[in-house]
Amino acid sequence: MNKIKVKAPCSSANLGSGFDVFGLALEAFHDTLTAEIVDADIGITVEYKGLGAEGIPTALERNTAGLVAKTLVANRHVAIKILVEKGIPLKMGLGSSGATAAACAVALNELLGLGLSKNEVVKAAAMGEVAAAGASHADNVAASVLGGFTIVQSWGDELYVARLDPPRNLEVALALPLIETPENKTAKARAVLPRSVGFTDAVANARNAASVVAGFHLGDVEMIGRGMTDLIVEPARKQLIPGFDSVKKAAFNAGAAGVAISGAGPAVIAVVDSAKKSTANVASAMKEAFETEGVKCQARCTKPSLTGVVKA
Ligand code: HSE
Repeated sequence: MNKIKVKAPCSSANLGSGFDVFGLALEAFHDTLTAEIVDADIGITVEYKGLGAEGIPTALERNTAGLVAKTLVANRHVAIKILVEKGIPLKMGLGSSGATAAACAVALNELLGLGLSKNEVVKAAAMGEVAAAGASHADNVAASVLGGFTIVQSWGDELYVARLDPPRNLEVALALPLIETPENKTAKARAVLPRSVGFTDAVANARNAASVVAGFHLGDVEMIGRGMTDLIVEPARKQLIPGFDSVKKAAFNAGAAGVAISGAGPAVIAVVDSAKKSTANVASAMKEAFETEGVKCQARCTKPSLTGVVKA
């Protein structure tokens, strides 16, 4: 094999209480990546096309696919052409850079026969996040690589990933506010985070994060939703999203089980128990709330992606 084409789903990181730990892969948007071994002395080249491609730096170290490829190809004498077709909106909080990194790590693992384990693929993909976020957090890439709901256990050099299937009746409403976001949006959204947290907030977030995991394990969407309450990151970041409080309230009033900033934002994610409530109603309530606050917004109903990266 000298060519491979894969597609990777977008994802929502954190789910409120699981900052840098939880990820949920979503069907809403995909990136596609083609990697080809070529018989020319070109080293690694990466080309981006599609949504927002013009804003992505082409230097290998400054884009996610380039950084992942550089890490994985390392000292091998092989020339590789990579084409990324972006379908996931950038700078929205939907793991766009993470999906590209995930696609690249999975594709090169297969193309070069590297034999990396799932944990190693996620770790390699997380390297790519340094280009986009300035930090190698693995929550988005884990979800995009594996699909479903993922938990990343990482510290120092160690990284382990667990995956759970979401309940069948878990659906997602996304609100994508069309606001200007700064360069290095994720790095800036990380810079506003508190340096220390209060004891009661730390206890509440630990309880809530445990409830999210229990909810996925038990197939209980309401337990997941309650567990998404975040007393640490959301209060610091919501200032970056005009109208966030009204949008959250509107989502709950329309029947959402849980609401959170998606990743570093500005998208807002609501999980819905589709056996009891209408996801479309939640999505349109969020859109209306943003627009009442003067913020244009696209709303989307979607489901978890169960597969993660697959051949395209
Ligand atoms: N966990 C990361 C953050 C996700 O919230 O900064 C960024 O996509």
